[in-house]
Amino acid sequence: MPPRQDRPVALITGAGKRVGAVIARTLHAAGYDLALHCRRSVEDAEALAAELEYERADSTLVLQAELADPHALPALVDTTLARYGRLDALVNNASAFHPTPVASATVTQWNELFASNAQAPFFLAQAATPALRATHGAIVNLVDIYAERPLADHPIYCMAKAALAAMTRSLALDLAPDIRVNGVAPGAVLWPSDGKPYADQQALLARTPLARAGTPEDVAGAVLWLLRDAPYVTGQIIRVDGGRTLST
Ligand SMILES: NC(=O)c1ccc[n+]([C@@H]2O[C@H](COP(=O)([O-])OP(=O)(O)OC[C@H]3O[C@@H](n4cnc5c(N)ncnc54)[C@H](OP(=O)(O)O)[C@@H]3O)[C@@H](O)[C@H]2O)c1
Repeated sequence: MPPRQDRPVALITGAGKRVGAVIARTLHAAGYDLALHCRRSVEDAEALAAELEYERADSTLVLQAELADPHALPALVDTTLARYGRLDALVNNASAFHPTPVASATVTQWNELFASNAQAPFFLAQAATPALRATHGAIVNLVDIYAERPLADHPIYCMAKAALAAMTRSLALDLAPDIRVNGVAPGAVLWPSDGKPYADQQALLARTPLARAGTPEDVAGAVLWLLRDAPYVTGQIIRVDGGRTLST
C-alpha cells in the first residue's frame, strides 16, 4: 500500500451520473479525493473524473463493477487503498429501482433489487471496516422515504431499502466507536427516466410542504454534513424530502 496521503478519500458507488455524480462533485469540492464506482456509466464516470482532475490533479480513480457480484466488492476497497493508502468515507449510493407488483414479482427481481440496495452496501462496509477504523471514518447509505412509507407496486424495492435502513442502525452499533454509520432518505429528487406521468409528479409535489422536488445538491449536502460535520451523530437516517413524510 502507498503511504497514507493527507487528503481524505471517499469511495462512492453509482457515481457516474445523477445523484451519485453530484455527491462526488460536492465531496471533491470539500477536499476529498475520490474512488468513483460505476457499472454501465463508464463514459459518464470518466468524463466526471476528467472534470474533477481539471480542478485538482491526481484526485480521482474510476472503478467499474457489477455490485451483484459479491467477489467484486473487496476489490473496490483494495484498489482504492492501493491508490491512496487510506479510506475515510464509503457512500453506498448505487441502487436498482423498478416496480414489482405482487402478482408478477420474481426471485430474479428480488435478487437484483436486494443486491444493489442491501447486499452490496453490507459487504462493501465489511470490506471497508479495517481501513475506516484506521481513519475513524464514516459510512453514508442512500436510503429512501419509501423504506418507511411504501410506494405502491414496489414492495421489493421498499423491503430492500428497509433492509438498508436496518443495516445503517445495526452497523452504527457494531462499528462504534471507530466508524459512524448514517443514512440519507431522499424524497422526490430526480424522477427515473421511465418515471411517473407529469400529473402524478405534480400531485406528489402538492403533498410536499416545501412545494418543490429536491435537488441532488440537497441530498449531497446532507451526505457531506454526515461525513464531515457530524462527529456525534451515528445510526441516524436524515429525511431530505421537503417535509413530505409530515403529511398523510
Ligand atoms: N432520485 C430520487 O429521486 C431518489 C429518491 C429516493 C431515494 N433515492 C436514492 O438515492 C440514490 C441515488 O439516486 P439516483 O436516482 O441518482 O439513482 P439511480 O440513477 O437510479 O442509480 C444510480 C446508479 O446505481 C448503479 N447501479 C444500479 N444497480 C447496480 C448494480 N447491480 N451494480 C452496480 N451499479 C448499479 C447504476 O450505475 P451505472 O449507471 O453505472 O450502471 C446507476 O447509475 C439511490 O440509492 C436511490 O435509491 C433517489
